[in-house]
Amino acid sequence: MVKTLEWGLDGTLRLLDQRNLPFETGYVECQSYRQVADCIKTMVVRGAPAIGITAAYGMVLAAAEAVQDDFYDAPDGDTGSVCARVEEQLAAAAETLKAARPTAVNLAWAVDRMLSKYRTKRQQVSEWGELLRCLEEEAQLIHEEDVLVNRQLGILGAELVTPGDRILTHCNAGALATGGYGTALGVIRRAWEVTGDVHVLVDETRPRFQGARLTSWELLQEEIPHTVITDNSAGWLMRRQELDIVFVGADRVAANGDVANKIGTYSLAVLAHENDIPFYVVVPSSTVDLALPSGEEIPIEKRSPAEVTEPLGSRVVPEGTQALNYAFDVTPNRFVTGIITEAGIAHKPYTVTLQKLLG
Ligand code: MRU
Repeated sequence: MVKTLEWGLDGTLRLLDQRNLPFETGYVECQSYRQVADCIKTMVVRGAPAIGITAAYGMVLAAAEAVQDDFYDAPDGDTGSVCARVEEQLAAAAETLKAARPTAVNLAWAVDRMLSKYRTKRQQVSEWGELLRCLEEEAQLIHEEDVLVNRQLGILGAELVTPGDRILTHCNAGALATGGYGTALGVIRRAWEVTGDVHVLVDETRPRFQGARLTSWELLQEEIPHTVITDNSAGWLMRRQELDIVFVGADRVAANGDVANKIGTYSLAVLAHENDIPFYVVVPSSTVDLALPSGEEIPIEKRSPAEVTEPLGSRVVPEGTQALNYAFDVTPNRFVTGIITEAGIAHKPYTVTLQKLLG
């Protein structure tokens, strides 16, 4: 299965460049946290869990840079100054990485987990090399845990699929968007493994075409039957009962079950509700933000209008016309049939069930 990111033995982070898929398979190597933040912002790497894991490695790079810098600046072994330097650097890195993309809570979750590891280990460990190793191990753990969690999501979600189901998914919530296997696409993978009889309808997902370019690429590699549809087609297919169930990922789920996900998810959920089609959201617990009471408080990223006026680099809108580009929307909880987490499937009322499962 495709590897979206890899931590090298030489302490560099190798990211599969998702901007040019499926036409080119290239990689970007990051040696600094600033490069990592830039790759997240420009969507070399994307998808909530994947950017969280990437940011965790970014924190390792930040600490390594600070220790190394100080080694050159103050080779007299003044650990006090190294300590101040590392802390300053980690605080700066945390701020930069968290700001790279504001909607997915996984980013802040992973960065905070790394900071907390640093604070604990700093009390216990006397050597900088060892402390760096502990941070590296923590980032690797975040990465490995994500894959295991996705497998569990797949097992739980696939039980909702009946052989022959036509499954709609939006954007890319697959191996590319995670540490591996995928969330919504993990459910689809597992359903295919178990039944050998599903058909996936893939929303193209304008303006960046994550469905058309990335989800179809993943499905093709595993020979899972699929068809790409225009984003506008889903409602019509639902009305004609030409699809049976919807699985999407999410960037953040609030405590009341409101769901922030790729722009267009809200429309899909309303249409699914109108047409009595089950609409499931598949998330690791790192995507659930129990500190936010509702979706109203979720920051929604606005991206460059150029993504709309020049999708994939070709201009489709006349010069002089403005474009608006919200990258995500929020689906109110009432349109969500269930939220699949690794701890179980939550149903309404989500304020109670999510807290019970994950609180
Ligand atoms: O802008 P993107 O491509 O990062 O958006 C990705 C999504 O909206 C995914 O559905 C979400 O992050 C979940 S990925 C498992």
